Amino acid sequence: MAHAAMACGVGAGSSRLIVGNHLEHVQLERAVEDWLRVDGVRTFSSGYAANVGVLTTLLRPGDVVFSDELDHASVIDGCRLSRAKIVVYPHRDLGVLESQLREITGSRRLVVSESLFSMDGDLADVRGLSELCRRHGAYLVLDEAHAIGVFGSEGRGLAAEVGVVPDVLIGTFGKAIGTSGAFAATSRVVADLLWNRARSFVFSTGTSPALAAATRTAIGIVRGGDGDARRQTLERHARAFRATHPTISGDLRSPIAPWIVGDDRRVMRTSHELLAAGIFAQGIRPPTVPEGTARIRFGLSAGHTVKHLELVDRALTTSRA
Ligand SMILES: Cc1ncc(COP(=O)(O)O)c(C=O)c1O
Repeated sequence: MAHAAMACGVGAGSSRLIVGNHLEHVQLERAVEDWLRVDGVRTFSSGYAANVGVLTTLLRPGDVVFSDELDHASVIDGCRLSRAKIVVYPHRDLGVLESQLREITGSRRLVVSESLFSMDGDLADVRGLSELCRRHGAYLVLDEAHAIGVFGSEGRGLAAEVGVVPDVLIGTFGKAIGTSGAFAATSRVVADLLWNRARSFVFSTGTSPALAAATRTAIGIVRGGDGDARRQTLERHARAFRATHPTISGDLRSPIAPWIVGDDRRVMRTSHELLAAGIFAQGIRPPTVPEGTARIRFGLSAGHTVKHLELVDRALTTSRA
């Protein structure tokens, strides 16, 4: 499909609002609507652009945005650019969030959280977030960048798995889907609003039509084919890895498997030692993560084999760190 799409040019030619709107873009948006069972989808060139575009479209001065303290940098930048009042709540602490929602008023209020946290591999209580938003009249924006394709039936993400429909679900194509770009899955009205108001969408060249076609093919693989079998393999790897190494944190099912070491230099040294042993596991340091929490971030995949996991087991057992 991607090869066929090359015939109409690799580049979109301009913003989609000018002459860059191709059939492949529209078909991709329809495919995501069908996959996630929503009325409206808007695609973006990246997850960064999607978070910034959505948050600056929905929020303005006088509004309040409640953000988990470990939300991704693109969420933080979107909140800042919106010029709404930003209220940060401690990581996954719905008790504090609830008291903030009780006390802090604004014209429009919106809660934003990741569902599977990118550097910690733990999960937001998505049902709890949705319930709080409903009780306190706030909108819910959920960044499922790492959960899409990984959790839920047909890989629809964590919200779908627990029966929650956020006001806006942000997903990326650059992770489990294996291409690049991102989307906001929402109502028809909000998708139309994003078309007209999201500056990271309006004032940016449309994504490559060939890429859109490749992404649509990839979604078909994630939804059907052996997608469920791959998700089961991935979950088995995640559970087995943690069973062997109790120092690995994050949710038991999470493919993001951090080993929090603490010291920056020790983390980078360990990362290099692992590489020498044939294992590519990136060291992550501040400011990406808070001071004193530098870590090795293992990323598990369904493509890994038991042999790969054994290699990591041996390396970790003999590691000097
Ligand atoms: C939670 C989260 N949101 C958004 C993004 C940004 O996505 P993209 O890389 O497509 O810009 C990332 C990572 O890159 C992420 O981890």
